Parts: sequence; structure tokens; C-alpha cells
Amino acid sequence: MNEICVGLIGFGTVGSGVVKILQQNKEIIEARVGFPVKLKRIADLDVTTDRGVRVDPSVLTTDVRQVLEDPEISIVIELIGGIEPAKAFILDAFRSGKQVVTANKALLAEHGAEIFKAARQAGREIAFEAAVAGGIPILRALREGLVANRFGKVLAILNGTCNFILTAMDENPGIPFDDVLKQAQDRGYAEADPSLDIEGIDTAHKLVIILALTHGIRLPLARIYVEGINRMDPFDVEMAKEFSFKIKLLALIIQHGEQVEVRLHPTMIPRNHPLARVDGVFNGIYLRGDMVGDQLFYGRGAGKEPTASAVVGDVIELARNVIGGQVGRVPPLGYPQNRIDTGGVMDMQEVVTNYYLRVQALDRPGVLSRIAGIMADHSISIHSVIQKGRQQSGTVPVVFLTHNAREKDVQAAARKINDLDAVEGPPVIIRIEDESLD
Ligand SMILES: NC(=O)c1ccc[n+]([C@@H]2O[C@H](COP(=O)([O-])OP(=O)(O)OC[C@H]3O[C@@H](n4cnc5c(N)ncnc54)[C@H](OP(=O)(O)O)[C@@H]3O)[C@@H](O)[C@H]2O)c1
Repeated sequence: MNEICVGLIGFGTVGSGVVKILQQNKEIIEARVGFPVKLKRIADLDVTTDRGVRVDPSVLTTDVRQVLEDPEISIVIELIGGIEPAKAFILDAFRSGKQVVTANKALLAEHGAEIFKAARQAGREIAFEAAVAGGIPILRALREGLVANRFGKVLAILNGTCNFILTAMDENPGIPFDDVLKQAQDRGYAEADPSLDIEGIDTAHKLVIILALTHGIRLPLARIYVEGINRMDPFDVEMAKEFSFKIKLLALIIQHGEQVEVRLHPTMIPRNHPLARVDGVFNGIYLRGDMVGDQLFYGRGAGKEPTASAVVGDVIELARNVIGGQVGRVPPLGYPQNRIDTGGVMDMQEVVTNYYLRVQALDRPGVLSRIAGIMADHSISIHSVIQKGRQQSGTVPVVFLTHNAREKDVQAAARKINDLDAVEGPPVIIRIEDESLD
């Protein structure tokens, strides 16, 4: 062997970043690997558009077979995204004896079991660091550097679009969600169709992958409680500030005895929490290992170069494994296949945490006490209440922070409160993650 040949499928944002890195950092990569890493072929539906990097035209092809069937290519990089044909290409790559690198979180979250099995059966590897938190090497940290730990808590900001929107709402009092979304789109931070991001699905895909690595649990997406940021009201962002909180879209994994909470929703965190300083398009993963203590991983969770940095990091790892003849030394999810489970996740209804509840109530005597009475009937103890001045509709926002309460009790109380004549619309519920509350 005198070089490692690589084939790329998908010459888009991340794909062109990969080409840039392999060109710009060619010498340092060769020095670190010990052999040149040569990009032998790039397949894309469109090979005429200028991608901002120079490549020899003979490298480009519209025929994916020229990547998948080239016997010299040992590592295939899939960067087209989506489920099909990406999945078919990856399975074909294994069948042709190739190692695979992908950034495709949706595919891994939804079809990971099939893909990992195919890799094992073919005696090949799949690497996917870029699928979670872009340039932050969190998967490798969980799988290797922190492998000696039990993880009591993982709180993660994993979607730059949502974090940009929530940061802008925090910094610009009263600005409506739709206006900030438009700003994010104008600046290239949000897709024309932003639903995957703002509804939390993209973060959920990443949460599925992180949970597998931290707990050896493979959870179908449908079993995760997912609430996006699309209904975020600037009033609640302002109220969060009054309570010294910031709102973040958090993916949460919290160990409770034998069970683990896995949930994803807008969350109020103290403004002095390390994650409160993860602003704009940045990502952050805050975790607690039983031996290592608390750690914060921070960096760019998306974008051409940061994501491509993770992809090329995987290419180099696989190249080293190919050179060393050590395929499959570290299992992709950090656990041998027969130790990966689907159980042990707490029912969302049983989750106990602190809540922010905003009720729009008529400013009449007795209303507040009726609401408080309903909460007491549902074993919800109130930590504090703020009532704001009268609004145009004749109702006033009344905001409650609760002590620890059970999700099912809070939901039941919210339904009862909604039934009151003196209340307009269902209460807004935002969960709080603050260890100083109980
Ligand atoms: N962008 C990021 O910051 C980021 C961050 C983390 C992970 N990722 C992941 O990285 C992957 C790639 O994302 P991206 O942003 O680079 O996407 P992108 O800019 O849309 O690039 C995808 C490229 O693949 C091409 N393509 C689509 N179907 C193809 C096919 N059947 N055969 C050959 N080429 C095909 C597309 O061509 P056409 O344009 O002609 O369709 C496009 O050039 C996705 O899985 C994404 O989730 C991206």
C-alpha cells in the first residue's frame, strides 16, 4: 500500500468542505496518517456547478457506481443526506468491501440498526462523527476518552438554527419568533423549510445517537418526547429573564436509579449555567461523568468547514484502521452489538422536574386562588408567582414556577386550568432545569 484512496458521494456544502480540507491540509494529513490520502473520485448529480474548490475534471462523475465499484477506493464518504438513495449507497459500499464515513444523522437515527448490522456482516466500519454537533468531537469523546464513566446527566444544545433564534429572542425583547426565523433564513442559518430544525426533529436524531453512546440504549424516535421551539412566545423569553433563566432547546438524558429520562424541549436554565453562554449558531454539550465530573463541549455544530473537519477526522481514523488491519476495534455505538438494549427509558409522564406555567387569566378576584387550588389538588407545589399588568384582551398573564412536580400531574392540572371560564387558552408550559430548585 502506498496511498489510501477515498471516494466522495455528494459534492454539496459539506462535500466541498471535505475536498477543501483534503487539499489544503494534504501534507499534515499525510504526515499524520503515514500515507497520502487521495480523493480519487467525486460523484454528484451535478458536476458542473462551481463548488468553490478546484478539482481535476476527471475526478468528477455523475455515476455513483464509479465510486462504489472502484477497487482502489477503500473509504466511501456519503454526503448526499436523506434516507434513500443514501442508505442503498452505504449498503452497496459495504458489499463492495469499503469503509464508510457519513454525516447523515437522519439515516442513522432511523435505520442505524440495519446499517450497523450490514457493516458488521461485511466486516467493515462506519464512522459518523459529523452527524452530531458538527465539528465538536463529542461522539469520539463519549466512545473513547470518557468510556470509563457512567453518565448521570447530558444536557445538549445540538441545533444551531434553534439556538440562533432563541439567542436573538433573548437579546431583542419582544421580537416575534417569525421575524427571527426570517433573519436566520436571510443569514443562511435556517433552511427555506425550517420544520426539521424548529420542530426539534434534527435534534432528536442527534439525541438518539448520543443516547446509544452514553447508555447503550437504542430508542426509536417515536418513543422520545420531542417539543420544538416553533411556538415560542417573546413574552415567555422575557419572563425567563425576570427569573434569571435563559431558554434553550435542550436534549436531556438524565439517569434516575435504573431508569433514564430522555426528552427534548425548550428548557429554562439559569443564566449562570455553562450552557447559557452557548449562544448563536454554536452547539454545546454539558455532561456529568461519575468519575470525570462536569464537562462542557463547545463549538460549531454545523457549517461547511467544521462539519467537514469531523468527516475528514473520520476518514483519517478509518485510514489508520485500514493501514493497521484493525477494522471494528471500537464498536460504532461504543457497546458491542449484543449489549445494546431498547429498555430502561422512563415514561415521559413519570418525569419529575420544575415547571414554568403561564396562564392568561381574567383579572378578577378569586381566579388566582382557583388556579392555585387546582395545582394543589394535583400535588404541585408553587415556588413563586408573578402576575403582570392587564393586557389588551382583558386577561393578565400569571406565571407560576413550581417545585418538583410530576409531568402527568402538571398536564392534568393544565387541562383543568384550561377548563376554567376565567382562563383564556391552555397554559404555556416550559420545563426548567435548575439544580438549585427542588
Ligand atoms: N450542512 C451542514 O452544516 C451539516 C452539518 C452536519 C451534518 N450535515 C449532513 O451532511 C450531509 C450533507 O449535507 P450538505 O449540507 O452538504 O447537503 P447539500 O449541500 O444539499 O449537498 C448534498 C449534495 O449531494 C448531491 N446529491 C443528492 N442526491 C444525490 C445522488 N443521488 N447522487 C449523487 N449526488 C447527490 C446534491 O446534489 P443536488 O444539489 O443537485 O441535489 C448535493 O450536491 C447531510 O446528511 C446532512 O444532514 C450537514
